[in-house]
Amino acid sequence: MKALVVHGGCDEGFLPDEEKRARLSGVRDAFQKGLLILKDMDSALDAVEHVIKDLENNPHFDAGVIGSFNNMIGEIEMDAAIMDSNESAGGVIRIRNIAHPISVARKVMEEMPHLLLCGKGAEIFARISGFREISPEEQHGNVDQREINKLPEEFRNFILEYTERLKEHKLFSTVGAVAIDSKGYIVAGTSTGGIAKAFPGRVGDSAIIGAGTFATFYGGSSATGIGEGIIRVGVTRKVVDMVENGTPIQEACSKVVDICSRRGFPCGVIALDRDGNAGISHNGHFMPTLSIKLD
Ligand code: GLY
Repeated sequence: MKALVVHGGCDEGFLPDEEKRARLSGVRDAFQKGLLILKDMDSALDAVEHVIKDLENNPHFDAGVIGSFNNMIGEIEMDAAIMDSNESAGGVIRIRNIAHPISVARKVMEEMPHLLLCGKGAEIFARISGFREISPEEQHGNVDQREINKLPEEFRNFILEYTERLKEHKLFSTVGAVAIDSKGYIVAGTSTGGIAKAFPGRVGDSAIIGAGTFATFYGGSSATGIGEGIIRVGVTRKVVDMVENGTPIQEACSKVVDICSRRGFPCGVIALDRDGNAGISHNGHFMPTLSIKLD
C-alpha cells in the first residue's frame, strides 16, 4: 500500500477564479510527479521532496524564491521542514536566496546532528552542500532601505500599525505533502515564505516540528494558515496524537481545525494514517488538495 496527499495552502479571503484554477493545476501537476516517484521508486521521502520542490518552483504558491511573499523590507525569508516516521526531522528557518528550502531541510535531516538551522547558518549549510543559490536580484524581493531606516524612531507606533495590518492578511499558500510507501515509511513536509509583509525574522509554523509538520509511525501531517496560532495549538502533533489514540484520521483533522476556528485563526491541515487513509480539513475559503491511496 502507498498513499500521497498534497496541499497548496488555505486562503481565508477572496481569490479570483483564475487564481484558484492556477493553484489547482499547480497542485495537480506536483501531485502527479510525486505519484510517479512513489510508484516507481517506492520512496515516500523522494515523493514528498519532489512534490514540494515542484510547488516551490510555481509562482502561485507562497514557497520558494519565485512565489514567496516579501517581508516588510522586501526580502524573501523561507521556512521548510521534513519529518519521517522514525522521528528523524530537519528544517530551515528564515533561509534566503536558495531555490529549494525543502531539499536543504532534507539534507539537515540526513546529515546534521541538529534538527533546525536558521538564517545565516542555514544559508552557509546550503551553500557548502552545493544547493542552487538565487541572487536577491533574481528573486522578486528588493530590500527597502526606507522601511529599515524608519523602524527604530517610530517603533511603538509602527508595531501597533503592523499588528492591525496583519489582521487584514487573509491569503496563505504555504505548500505541503505527506506520503507513505510500501515499507510503511511515512514522511511529512511543508515549505513556506511565511506571511506577507511580516516583520523581518518572524518565524511561522511550517518548520516547527509538531506545529506545521509532524510524522510518527501512526501518521504524518502538514498544516497551513496563521503560524502563530498553529504553533500555539501544535496542530500537526495534535492530529497525529489523536490518530495514535484511535481517532479516525478525517475526524482528527476536523477536530483540530475546529479548535483553530474557536481560537479565531485560519488553518488547513492534511494527514495520512499508517493504513494510507487521508484526512483533509480547513476553515478557509479555498484550499487546493489531492489525495490517493494505492493498494
Ligand atoms: N503558515 C505559514 C506561516 O505562518 O508562516
